[in-house]
Amino acid sequence: MKPASDGSQGCSEPEVTVRRSVPSDREAIRRAIVETDLFRQDEIDIALEVLDDALARGAEGHYQSYTAELRGQPVGWLCFGPTPCTVGTFDIYWIVVAPHIQARGTGKKLMRHAEGLIAQLGGRMIVVETSGGPAYHRTRQFYLKRDYREEARLIDFYAPGEDKVVYVKRPAAREKPS
Ligand SMILES: CC(C)(COP(=O)(O)OP(=O)(O)OC[C@H]1O[C@@H](n2cnc3c(N)ncnc32)[C@H](O)[C@@H]1OP(=O)(O)O)[C@@H](O)C(=O)NCCC(=O)NCCS
Repeated sequence: MKPASDGSQGCSEPEVTVRRSVPSDREAIRRAIVETDLFRQDEIDIALEVLDDALARGAEGHYQSYTAELRGQPVGWLCFGPTPCTVGTFDIYWIVVAPHIQARGTGKKLMRHAEGLIAQLGGRMIVVETSGGPAYHRTRQFYLKRDYREEARLIDFYAPGEDKVVYVKRPAAREKPS
C-alpha cells in the first residue's frame, strides 16, 4: 500500500504509538492545545499547569500524562488521575489531538491506553467532562462512540448556553451478567 504523506498507510490509521509524556513533549503539546482553537487562554494555562505537574512528578504524581507520537513527534496528549475522595473513580482531565491528525484514530488510541491503565489500577468508573456548546459537538460524539454515557448536565455552567456535560464509563459493569 502506498504510504500517505504523513507516513500512514493509505486510509488506515497512522502508526501512532502512546507512551508516558516526557519534558521535551511540552512545546508540541502546548501547540496542539492552542491549535485546536477551542480553549480560552485561562483554560490553556490550566492545561499547562496540569502538564507541568505531571512532567515534574511522573508516575508518582497525581496526574498521569501520556503522549501520542507519530514518527517521533508528539501529536496528542491525554492526562488522567484518580478522583480525590473516591474509591476506584478516575477522571480523564484532558485529551487533545493536533488538528492536522484528528479524526484518524489517535484519540481512540489514547483513550484505549488510558482505560487499560485505569483497569490495571482497579478503576471501576471513568468520568470525563466537556462543554455542551456547539464547538464541542464532535468531542461529545467522540465520547459517546467510546461508550461514555451522559450522566449529568449542569445547565449554563461554563457560560450562558454552555452546559457542563459529564460522561461516565463503567468498564466492569459490562462484564456483570444481566
Ligand atoms: C476529541 C479528540 C481528542 C478526538 O481525537 P481524534 O483523534 O480526532 O478522534 P479519533 O480519530 O480517534 O476518532 C474516534 C471516533 O470519533 C469519530 N469521529 C471522528 N471525527 C468525527 C466527526 N467529525 N464527527 C463525529 N464523529 C467523529 C470517529 O468516527 C471515531 O469513531 P470510530 O473510529 O470508532 O468509528 C480530538 O478531536 C480533539 O483534540 N478535539 C479538540 C480538543 C477536545 O475537544 N478535547 C476534549 C476536551 S473535553
